[in-house]
Amino acid sequence: MNKTTAIVLAAGKGTRMKSDLPKVLHRVAGAPMVDHVVQAALDAGADDAVVVVGHRRDLVEAHLTERFGDRVRTAVQAEQKGTGHAVMCGLPELKDATTALLLYGDTPLVRSDDLGRLLEVRGQQKVALITCKVPDPMGYGRILREGGRVVAIREQRDCNAEQLLVDEVNPGMYAVDVAFLREALAALTPDNEQGELYLTDIVAMAARHESVADCDADHRTLVGVNDRAQLSAAEEDLYRRIGDDLRRAGCTVRASARIDVGVEIGTDAIIEHGAVLRGKTKVGPGARIDVGCVLDDVEVAAEAYLKPYTVASESIIGERAQTGPFAHLRPQSQLDEEAKIGNFVEVKKTRLRKGAKASHLAYLGDGDVGENANIGAGTIFCNYDGFQKHKTIIEAGAFIGSDSQLVAPVTIGAGAYVGTGTTVTKDVPADALAIGRAKQANKEGYAPRIKARMKAAKEAAKKAEGS
Ligand code: UD1
Ligand code: CA
Repeated sequence: MNKTTAIVLAAGKGTRMKSDLPKVLHRVAGAPMVDHVVQAALDAGADDAVVVVGHRRDLVEAHLTERFGDRVRTAVQAEQKGTGHAVMCGLPELKDATTALLLYGDTPLVRSDDLGRLLEVRGQQKVALITCKVPDPMGYGRILREGGRVVAIREQRDCNAEQLLVDEVNPGMYAVDVAFLREALAALTPDNEQGELYLTDIVAMAARHESVADCDADHRTLVGVNDRAQLSAAEEDLYRRIGDDLRRAGCTVRASARIDVGVEIGTDAIIEHGAVLRGKTKVGPGARIDVGCVLDDVEVAAEAYLKPYTVASESIIGERAQTGPFAHLRPQSQLDEEAKIGNFVEVKKTRLRKGAKASHLAYLGDGDVGENANIGAGTIFCNYDGFQKHKTIIEAGAFIGSDSQLVAPVTIGAGAYVGTGTTVTKDVPADALAIGRAKQANKEGYAPRIKARMKAAKEAAKKAEGS
């Protein structure tokens, strides 16, 4: 039986990142670099994957377990003695695999199609590798050919002047016969400028048996990220790719929108300029996410309209519901269909049922708002007594006048009416009117007198200051 296991190298510190975080955990379009590589390997047909960890391996291991569960194992390279040594550390975890797909954890743009092709071209050869021509080969290992055949890979720092001019480089993706790999790694020597065991040297060994196959791929998908400038460039490329895939699938995605890998978007949805969609966010067909919206793990149903600068996390927005401009949905908020929150409305752990509205300036925390209830401007759910959170329940069709405070726990019955400026401290029965504000008194002709008095007081104070 043929079994393919990927070995992904991720033990290095990534010195050039100048970071406390291990290089492979730096994110590209929402996912750590190593995730992109492991996922591409699995999508290409690898049965499982071994990630070689070292620098801050606790962090890398914890992340991988959370993300991939038991499809990914780890092997430890305690000291970083080169890419060949790293693969050696992974060998015991290969178990019964016959083909090893060897990858580096810092090539986040790699495509599963190319890795699939790499596995195919290996056929019966000992080694297959991807090569590519690049505009600027700086930093990459150069591909050396004789009579058209790949005979070796030479690291930049070990190249002579002529070899430095070679613009065909090694992106670091290999499919290798496992029996050959075991022999070849045992024969590696550190005779290079860095004194490391280079994985790349196995190519020359296989070439001696005339057993190297190669294929090429678009160089933009093969970049290795060594510093944060390259990280940023790779991320821009990936955002462009994600945007183009969505456009081809029938979504309108403006150029400056940023949609992370894993976000799902339905046809005819419109994602406007500067919108940022992250995590497990899903957007339904025909929904519109306007300028500057930021969504983390948000489900947006069909034809919902998120007006500019809606900021939402871990929430659900129903069909034809509307939010914003400048609305804030904090975790566990839910707008049912056609519910609406307007500008400067903050919602937390609160559900607005079908057609319920809070159009302006409100805080709705720990609440449940019934169908078609209307919440006036300036309403506050006073949910916190300094020790505990309490619930506000507003039943269907209730009307809450502007500038009301609902002191939780409290229930406003169906169809009830809360007069403007009321502080509600006890339950309001269905269809009742609750009103609790001081009576207004008008004193005719009084305004000029009071103004004159205040003006005199101000002048007196000024005089006293000057003397
Ligand atoms: C490597 C290749 C180079 C290739 C380039 C492609 C070698 C010797 N060189 O160079 O030919 O053009 O990638 O991007 O293989 N790692 C370990 N343990 C180690 C050393 C490295 O796990 O002891 C891991 C790193 O964490 C990293 C990957 O291997 O994810 C590549 O290492 P890096 O130091 O970035 O290699 P490059 O110098 O870029
Ligand atoms: Ca690299």
